[in-house]
Amino acid sequence: MKPVRILLLGSGGREHALAWKISQSSLCEKLFIAPGNAGTESCGENVNISYNDFLAVQSLCLREHIELVIVGPEEPLVNGIYDYFKSDAALRNIALIGPSKYAAQMEGSKAFAKAFMHRHNIPTASYREFDLSNYEEGVAYLQSLPIPIVLKADGLAAGKGVIICQNHVEAMAEFELMIQQSKFGEAGKKVVVEEFLKGIELSMFALVDGRSFVLLPEAKDYKRIGEGDTGLNTGGMGAVSPVPFADGLFMQKVRERIIEPTVKGLQQEKFEYIGFVFFGLINVNGDPYVIEYNCRLGDPETEVVIPRLQNDIVELFLAASKQHLSDIKVRIDPRAAATVVAVSGGYPGNYEKGFDIDGLDILQEDDVFIFHAGTTRHNDVIVTNGGRVLTITSFGDTVSKAARRSSEMMEFLDFHGIYYRRDIGYEFA
Ligand code: AMP
Ligand code: GLY
Repeated sequence: MKPVRILLLGSGGREHALAWKISQSSLCEKLFIAPGNAGTESCGENVNISYNDFLAVQSLCLREHIELVIVGPEEPLVNGIYDYFKSDAALRNIALIGPSKYAAQMEGSKAFAKAFMHRHNIPTASYREFDLSNYEEGVAYLQSLPIPIVLKADGLAAGKGVIICQNHVEAMAEFELMIQQSKFGEAGKKVVVEEFLKGIELSMFALVDGRSFVLLPEAKDYKRIGEGDTGLNTGGMGAVSPVPFADGLFMQKVRERIIEPTVKGLQQEKFEYIGFVFFGLINVNGDPYVIEYNCRLGDPETEVVIPRLQNDIVELFLAASKQHLSDIKVRIDPRAAATVVAVSGGYPGNYEKGFDIDGLDILQEDDVFIFHAGTTRHNDVIVTNGGRVLTITSFGDTVSKAARRSSEMMEFLDFHGIYYRRDIGYEFA
C-alpha cells in the first residue's frame, strides 16, 4: 500500500492520541490536524480552521490533496460531514472515517438509538418517549415509575442532557422544563424516560466497515470531578484499560448480545457507517446492557485504548474504507494502561485560560505519554486553553499501578490552578 495524506478533525486529548498513533505509521505520508492543539503540532501540521466549517475543510482537502479524513468529535458527524463529502464530486473519493448524518443519530438522538436497540433485541433499559403531543401521558407515566427516574433529552446536549431524578417532584419539574420550556433546545423537547439500571459502566469500541468489524480494548472512564466519584459530571477525569471485571464470560455476552447484533443491524438497515461505534455499557449482575451509543471514540478512553493497540492504525482505517476489516487481526498490548486528566481550576464550572504550563519538557520517561487537550502555543510557551488541559497515560502490570504512575508523573507538571484526581482505578486496587 502506498502512503496517504491524512486529515484528522478535532482538538482534544482523543485527537492527540490518534495523531500520535497515526504519525508512527509508514502509511502516513503527511498528517494535518484541524484545528489540533499544542500537542498535535509534534505529530503533524495544525491547520487553524473549525471542523464545523465544512467549506474550510473542503478547501483544505483539495489544497493538500487529502486522501483520508478521520473525524474525531461527534458534532461534525451529527451535522452531516459524511453527506457533505459524498455530495461533492471533488471530495467523494476521499475515504472518510465516520458515519452518515442519518447513521450518526445513533448518538445524536436517544430515541433513534433506543428504537434501533428495540428492533434488534439488544439489551437496554426499558423506556418510553414523550413530547408535547403526549405530555399528559408522560406526567402520568412518571408518577407510576419507581425512583430513581432517568430523563434523557433526545438531541445532543453537550453531555448534560441526562438527568437522574431521585424523587417524583424533581422528575416532574425537569420533565416540564425539558418539554415545555425547551431547557435543552428544540432537540431536547423530545424526552426518553428510562428505567434506572444499577451497575458498573464500561466502554467498548468497534471500528465497523458495513460488513465486518474489529474490536478495540475495553475501557472505563471516570466522569465525576471529585475523588471517590463525587461532585459534578465532567467530560472525563481519567480512564483505565483493561477493565478487571470484564472477564471472558462477560465479554462473550457483550459480543454475542450487543456488538454482533448492533453491527448486523447497521448492515441490515443499510446504514452508511464506516467508522467507530462506541458502546456505553453497564454490567448489571453479570449481564451487559447498552446505556448509549456514540458514533466516535471516547475521550479520555482513547488515551488508554490507542496506546494499547499494536496495529498500524492507518492500515486499519484504509482497510475499513475498502470494507476489508475482516482481513485484520487486532493485536493488543497485554499491559494495563491508565490516564489521569489535569483540568483548570474551577472546571467543570467557570475557569480561566492562558496560564503557562511548566514541566512539559522535563517529563521524558519511556512509556509515559502526555496527551494535550486544552492547550495552545503563545510564541514559545504552551498555555492552558480549556477545561481539560492535558492527560498523562502510563502502563503497568495492573490498572492501579498504571494509574499510580500517571498520578506521580503529574507532579512534574504545573499550571496555575491545576487539579487532577489521584484515585483513578481506585476500585481495582
Ligand atoms: P449518557 O449521556 O447516555 O451517557 O448518560 C450519562 C450517564 O447517565 C451515563 O454514563 C450513566 O452513568 C447515566 N445513565 C444513563 N442512563 C442510565 C440508566 N438507564 N440507568 C442508570 N444510569 C444511567
Ligand atoms: N468519555 C465519554 C465520552 O467520550 O463520551
